[in-house]
Amino acid sequence: MKKVLITGAAGYIGSHAVVDFHNAGYEVIGVDNYLNSEEGTYKRIAQITGKEIAHHNIDLRDKKAVFSLFKSEKDIDAVVHFAALKSVPDSVDNPIFCFDNNNNSTLNLADACSQFGVKHFIFSSSCSVYGNVTADQLPVTEETQLKRPESPYGYTKQNGEEMLHYFSDVKDVKIMALRYFNPVGAHPSGEIGELPAKRVNNLVPVITQSAAGVIDAFTVFGSDWKTRDGSCIRDYIHVSDIASAHTLAYEFLKKQDDEKFFDVINLGSGEGVSVFEAIKAFERATGVRAPYKVGDRRDGDVESIYSNPQKAKEVLGWEPKFDIEDMMASAWKWQQKLKELGMAVHKL
Ligand SMILES: NC(=O)c1ccc[n+]([C@@H]2O[C@H](COP(=O)([O-])OP(=O)(O)OC[C@H]3O[C@@H](n4cnc5c(N)ncnc54)[C@H](O)[C@@H]3O)[C@@H](O)[C@H]2O)c1
Repeated sequence: MKKVLITGAAGYIGSHAVVDFHNAGYEVIGVDNYLNSEEGTYKRIAQITGKEIAHHNIDLRDKKAVFSLFKSEKDIDAVVHFAALKSVPDSVDNPIFCFDNNNNSTLNLADACSQFGVKHFIFSSSCSVYGNVTADQLPVTEETQLKRPESPYGYTKQNGEEMLHYFSDVKDVKIMALRYFNPVGAHPSGEIGELPAKRVNNLVPVITQSAAGVIDAFTVFGSDWKTRDGSCIRDYIHVSDIASAHTLAYEFLKKQDDEKFFDVINLGSGEGVSVFEAIKAFERATGVRAPYKVGDRRDGDVESIYSNPQKAKEVLGWEPKFDIEDMMASAWKWQQKLKELGMAVHKL
């Protein structure tokens, strides 16, 4: 059985990937230092898979610890690298920590892959690498010109891709960077999902939290954008669909004859959904009202961004299985689970 090392395995997307790789028949090893997660996630993953995976508490900035992990876990065939700081506002407040954490984790893993002969590497990238996309650039393809990212976080993704690309020019490793648009929702079982952030500002968590009464009515930032209903448009994609793309990317990389390989692929639904449409989808899917108010536009917001997911379909054979109502229904189920766990508000 091929061994796959998943970093950030206790986190939001990583935990869903653990389930997907396990279900596809791989031996999964998790790494996380619980910077933005908790070890209890592995127990809840086991509720879904029936098996608790082997896992290690390692800060991936610690090169010595990373190397001794690769030494002790022999025959790792692939690294699927989710671990990163993902908070854009935190990265703006403390860019050095974000650069140190995200870039050095990636460097140490790449170095360990080359030292220990690991042949496959999948990198969590983001649509933030495209910077401030203008209306004439939509939908965003992999050929869309990269601009200066809007945040230090976005820069770590652009930079991470570049570092790995240069690395794959000289080392026998096949690398795929997957650029996610807006991952939302939770596993249909309701056992795993996204933990509440310190500063809740993503749309789906604010919808579920306001509907649950955890926060007051949330603000829709601007209703005067030049879109079909005046609110901003984004490309939401179910987290389980994001996870399954990684398993398909690994299958794809294994089939490549060349020892050196690098490519990037967008992961989005291809459909732009407005803020008002997302709120309505939530209310349709759950029968629950999510209180909101309309405010001014927020600095730094882009009017509209959505992907062209054609390459993911052609190269990986990947197509999203879950629609916007599935995303909302599963996010709501997870909100109930958070309440049951006593974790409905940020606890980390
Ligand atoms: N969620 C999104 O909206 C989104 C969008 C685009 C890209 N991404 C990227 O996808 C990846 C996963 O995101 P997520 O939403 O699951 O985030 P998350 O915060 O839930 O998970 C990341 C995990 O990595 C761990 N981690 C961070 N730094 C570490 C370190 N130095 N050593 C060990 N573990 C460390 C955290 O504890 C956490 O469990 C990240 O790379 C993120 O940048 C996320």
